[in-house]
Amino acid sequence: MGFRIIGTGRSVPQRAVSNDEIAKFVDTSDEWISQRTGIKNRYISVGETLNQLSAQASEKAMEMAGVTADSIDLIIVGTLSPDRIIPSAACELQAAIGAKNAVAFDINAACSGFLFALQIANGFFATGGAKRALLVGAEVLSKMTDWTDRGTCVLFGDGAGACIVDYDKDATVTFSSGSDGTKGDALCIDNRPLNNLFIKNEAPLDHTHMDGQEVFKFAVKTVPRAIEDAMMKAGIKAEDVDVFLLHQANLRIIESVAKRLKRPMELFPLIMSEFGNMSAACVPVLLDIQVRNGTLQRGMQTVMAGFGAGLTWSAAVFVY
Ligand code: ACO
Repeated sequence: MGFRIIGTGRSVPQRAVSNDEIAKFVDTSDEWISQRTGIKNRYISVGETLNQLSAQASEKAMEMAGVTADSIDLIIVGTLSPDRIIPSAACELQAAIGAKNAVAFDINAACSGFLFALQIANGFFATGGAKRALLVGAEVLSKMTDWTDRGTCVLFGDGAGACIVDYDKDATVTFSSGSDGTKGDALCIDNRPLNNLFIKNEAPLDHTHMDGQEVFKFAVKTVPRAIEDAMMKAGIKAEDVDVFLLHQANLRIIESVAKRLKRPMELFPLIMSEFGNMSAACVPVLLDIQVRNGTLQRGMQTVMAGFGAGLTWSAAVFVY
């Protein structure tokens, strides 16, 4: 048993920010950013909330699927940058779109968030807990970015991707997911500092810290392994895969994965040039673009993979 994706959608803030614009306030250049990451542009919120972006992406996904909000019985939002700590982004999204029959919750698995949401939804389907899910990957990372740190501020963008997924008893999907909490410091943002009646703490709110080379090494080693494991469980080989939809952290990571799997780069669509790294939103935004431009066709053998802070990773193999 598995699922069928019946609608997709995306939304990004209106404000586009080019590499040249970033080079005006930190010591960097379009050349450095493009060559090291493949990123040329990103969209940054100047007021759009995570809830607004998620709701817009979800409305588009529902419209494509031809379904109403009250037919959705599960909403999962993968995010590390919700508007509020409580209520969850998923509950706020439920209210925004009027999905009154859904159970709604968030998961924080950073850039793997959308893939983890897909696997959890599949578990709900398997246990009879849901028949139709709205899965969203959404981030407003710009509020957590240190805009004086050229090592990180050039990488990230804001946005949301959504899809409607139906239970399908005839479909199959295999996953390979994992985490390594011992490497958590490679990419981290601290929560609000301890501050109560009994301790005075005036530390400011923290921003993104990253050991780029550690994350790079992790990604190029772990992602091909996870994809190979998911393909093995599915009984297929890399040559059988029509498209690889990978988290868009960095062009060089994707090139390395393609090389390791011995598959041409044409099978790995890229969107980081326009959107930057939107963490959990990358894979569903990429999915929506592929669906809407007709590149992803019914019956295609598809691999999706996410990887990021935690460290976390997840690969899925299914037929679109
Ligand atoms: N512009 C110009 N110079 C820069 C910039 C910048 N934006 N950022 C760093 N540098 C400088 C550094 O200060 C350093 O200078 P120094 O040698 O004088 O000290 C030099 O460039 C090399 O720095 P490194 O950090 O070693 O650069 P590296 O080649 O590793 O590239 C990068 C950095 C692009 C982040 C790389 O490590 C990478 O791709 N890592 C993968 C991590 C990633 O993609 N993270 C995204 C979030 S995690 C995820 O989504 C999975």
